[in-house]
Amino acid sequence: MQNFVYDIPTKVYFGPDQLSHLGEELKKFGTRVLLTYGGGSIKKTGLYDRVVAEIERAGLTLFELSGIEPNPRITSVNKGVALCREHKIDVLLAVGGGSTIDATKFIGAGYYHDGDAWDLLSDKTPITNCLPIVTVLTLSATGSEMDAGGVISNLETRDKIGRGHPAMRPKVSFLDPTATYTVGPYQTACGAADILSHLMETYFNADGSLYMLDRMMEGLMETVVHAAPVALAEPENYEARANLMWASSWAINGFTRTCQTCEWSCHPMEHELSAFYDITHGLGLAILTPRWMEHVLDEESAPHLARFARSVFRVDAALPDREAAREGIARLSAFLFDTLGLKSTFTALGIDDTHFAEMAKKACGGGVLQGYRPLRPADVEAIFRACL
Ligand code: NZQ
Ligand code: ZN
Repeated sequence: MQNFVYDIPTKVYFGPDQLSHLGEELKKFGTRVLLTYGGGSIKKTGLYDRVVAEIERAGLTLFELSGIEPNPRITSVNKGVALCREHKIDVLLAVGGGSTIDATKFIGAGYYHDGDAWDLLSDKTPITNCLPIVTVLTLSATGSEMDAGGVISNLETRDKIGRGHPAMRPKVSFLDPTATYTVGPYQTACGAADILSHLMETYFNADGSLYMLDRMMEGLMETVVHAAPVALAEPENYEARANLMWASSWAINGFTRTCQTCEWSCHPMEHELSAFYDITHGLGLAILTPRWMEHVLDEESAPHLARFARSVFRVDAALPDREAAREGIARLSAFLFDTLGLKSTFTALGIDDTHFAEMAKKACGGGVLQGYRPLRPADVEAIFRACL
């Protein structure tokens, strides 16, 4: 095991009826609150009214930014930065899924940057600070409620770029599984695929020697495979929703990454898909992941893929590694496309090979993607083609 620093400072209130602590937590950072949210699901579910009531009860001053898009746009971020400056905001309150939280992170960071917030993503201009962020999570997927990163899209340049800074990690997150009861089957499935992918991106690392973390990740992946179908069949099953929610946070909050150095593989490829076609992140990952596994399966990786198959999908322990690995890929595909009901090809999404070469080059950052196995643009293009 390599050296690492463990520092995950987000305070979590988990469970129903915890919003009564919202006012006291916000007050620690000041009195002027910018509430950020998406296209209105929080109004339909009644969560907006509950949040506003808590803010009023605490005597805080409320401002709002609504309409943050899925695959959030830099235009929304810049609007938020302007509101923060105009109203001298002390603390940001993101209520929603990963898109709302990610946009809020860059609003908080953009506040400290003299210029367009896109500079923080495109030019690698250093992020220096971030306004304090409190979140109320409504969708189990990205882990943004407990991690230090965010991903923002720019429609003009067809870019979707992720970046992070320790100051962007939420200070406090309210995780109430009942707030996800209204998430429909499609977003529930996409969220599960995203959580699973975060774990797989870390589990399949080139560093090795993560025995204890590997066992924990296997448990988390198995949890997703167990809980997601229950949540689909019974949207108000508390245990299923609770397990998905806590797994989403732990999949990417930094704990499992402590000793890992290599880059991720499927996320950079998916971000190009979302950038060019504005598709849902978890759906893109679901289509890519089994094809990526097939691409990297060789003599050397077979034992690792086989262990994944045996521990997460209970593949017969007696099967030789290569066969077990193949069976694991088949069971993962069956889980994503049959059990979760996600579409299984790019063609089904209306995506053809027009932009594959450009997307592959961008996914590799203009060079080689140094993931579990190095991926050159030609490898990424081959994986894209296998998804057609
Ligand atoms: O916008 P509203 O009206 O709220 O509706 C949303 C949206 O349409 C809806 N929704 C959310 N909670 C709901 C609900 N509908 C009913 N009931 C609820 N309780 O669901 C739709 C999708 O929401 P969104 O926030 O876009 O989904 P998600 O949480 O999956 O976030 C996806 C974004 O996060 C990025 C993705 O790339 C994508 O842009 N990621 C962020 C990461 C991070 N910060 O670490 C890592 C991930 O790998 C990912 O890249
Ligand atoms: Zn993801």
